[in-house]
Amino acid sequence: MSELSLQCFKQFAEIVYKNSGIHIRPDKKSLLQSRLTKLMRREKIPDYKSLLETLESGREPRLLTEFIDVVSTNVTRFFREIQHFDFIRDRFIPELLKQQKREIRVWSSACSSGQEPYSVLIHLLEHLPEPKSWNIQFLATDISTKVLRFAQAGIYSEEALAEISPSLRDKYFEEIEDGYFRIHEALKQQIRFRHFNLMQPFPFRHKFDLVLCRNVMIYFNSETQKQLVDKFKTCIRKEGYLIVGLSEALSKTDHGLQFVKSSVYQVKR
Ligand SMILES: C[S@@+](CC[C@H](N)C(=O)[O-])C[C@H]1O[C@@H](n2cnc3c(N)ncnc32)[C@H](O)[C@@H]1O
Repeated sequence: MSELSLQCFKQFAEIVYKNSGIHIRPDKKSLLQSRLTKLMRREKIPDYKSLLETLESGREPRLLTEFIDVVSTNVTRFFREIQHFDFIRDRFIPELLKQQKREIRVWSSACSSGQEPYSVLIHLLEHLPEPKSWNIQFLATDISTKVLRFAQAGIYSEEALAEISPSLRDKYFEEIEDGYFRIHEALKQQIRFRHFNLMQPFPFRHKFDLVLCRNVMIYFNSETQKQLVDKFKTCIRKEGYLIVGLSEALSKTDHGLQFVKSSVYQVKR
């Protein structure tokens, strides 16, 4: 495949930005080129110009979805950024217990292939007293349909489960074939996986106690981050929490949230 020109790179980057908010920096040009090459081979598209033309025409929404799938970065792991799980155990759960309402609403808003929402759900089940008596409403969304399919299948390799202790693995997963494990059906059923683009207006009727938006803000520019945080504020209940990735401090934006600790923010009373 020929070299991606700067002009074409800019046009692809513009389409990505318009459709996902993801800001692709020029130093990612060769990464974009290699990802596009794979897509074009698979879709039998002869050159960048034809791909651009089809994407811009809006004639093939399926191709646009595939395109966003290949350009988004989906790296994730179970119990990633353990400090957030300590926060959930040591502060979020004790505060919930004081409210005595026995209902929790959680949204994993860029859930990738499911490791984040499953880790949070397992953590809640492990640390809530009488977990079965709680009504846990768990929504997990992502812009990529490809990762959502993985999340819904709930099948992970032994290596992917390396961050989980053997006792938790045996409690919540079953081995289905050599080296592959499937999360128990009951856990899968507790999470609603949906396709959702964070750039769209939020459609929620009920507010969340906890929203995770981890390791995705980094791909948005500061204006987009600010708009997104403003939307999160409308869908988190007072004294509820927003958790972003550890490297994504919101300090540069005038966010109007209470800083709790690194990457954890609370909607003010
Ligand atoms: C690096 S992964 C992070 C996954 C998980 N939150 C974590 O911290 O391990 C970023 C995810 O954000 C998703 N994403 C990117 N732009 C998005 C958007 N506009 N709306 C929803 N999800 C988006 C990507 O598809 C990807 O799965």
